[in-house]
Amino acid sequence: MTRQFFVGGNFKLNPITLESKKSLISGLNKAELDPSTEVVIAPPSIYLISVKDIVRKDVKVAAQNCYFKESGAFTGEISPKQLVDAGIPYVILGHSERRTIFKETSELIATKTRAALDAGLKVILCIGETLQEREAGKTAEVCEEQLKAVVEVLKEADWSNVVIAYEPVWAIGTGKVATSAQAQEAHVDVRAYLAKAISAAVANDTRIIYGGSVTAVNCKELATQQDVDGFLVGGASLKPEFADIVNAKK
Ligand code: G3H
Repeated sequence: MTRQFFVGGNFKLNPITLESKKSLISGLNKAELDPSTEVVIAPPSIYLISVKDIVRKDVKVAAQNCYFKESGAFTGEISPKQLVDAGIPYVILGHSERRTIFKETSELIATKTRAALDAGLKVILCIGETLQEREAGKTAEVCEEQLKAVVEVLKEADWSNVVIAYEPVWAIGTGKVATSAQAQEAHVDVRAYLAKAISAAVANDTRIIYGGSVTAVNCKELATQQDVDGFLVGGASLKPEFADIVNAKK
């Protein structure tokens, strides 16, 4: 199976006004986007429904997080069922900012992933090592540990609804992008782990995208790598250059 190129824009806690949200989406609506790329944008939860309503129909919308319970006394949370009901097809889970700032464990992320898939969402599952872990030669081990928690919970689930985002923590928001060789090596290791832990078919078919300081300048070289199936873009997704990243394969 050919893996469709995938570019996600993670807006994080941006923009901060209704007006700037409107103008960001209106810019995207006018951009020329490669129709062969799957494009997904993840605005803050307060804007999910309004973005879905105004964004062009070839761009999908993702939540940046969700809880694993369907409803109940969980102040501040959003449930997978609510996202599905609101017509939001994707959710990002396990982003390094959730893991570090909000202390989410791999086990919690695995539970959320299971709940999201069970509810009918597609999941962009983030993994990645810190600088210290890379320097200690532990990149593959850390990614495997983070994935293992999810693999154990998902087992026979449909992996075609999971996109894995390899995002080295040292590259996120730092301007220090991984080299294409570093990205390719990490993606090959992740694929090898999927083959070992699940199946050759899942390893071959699952999209593994790269995130961390991706820009219009560095995306083309990264996109030449055989196992780089797209990008999860933070800062640059708020700028017109997001369109160039979507078009990286053109
Ligand atoms: O989810 C996106 C990543 O955290 C990358 O962010 O492109 O600003 O480095 P960045």
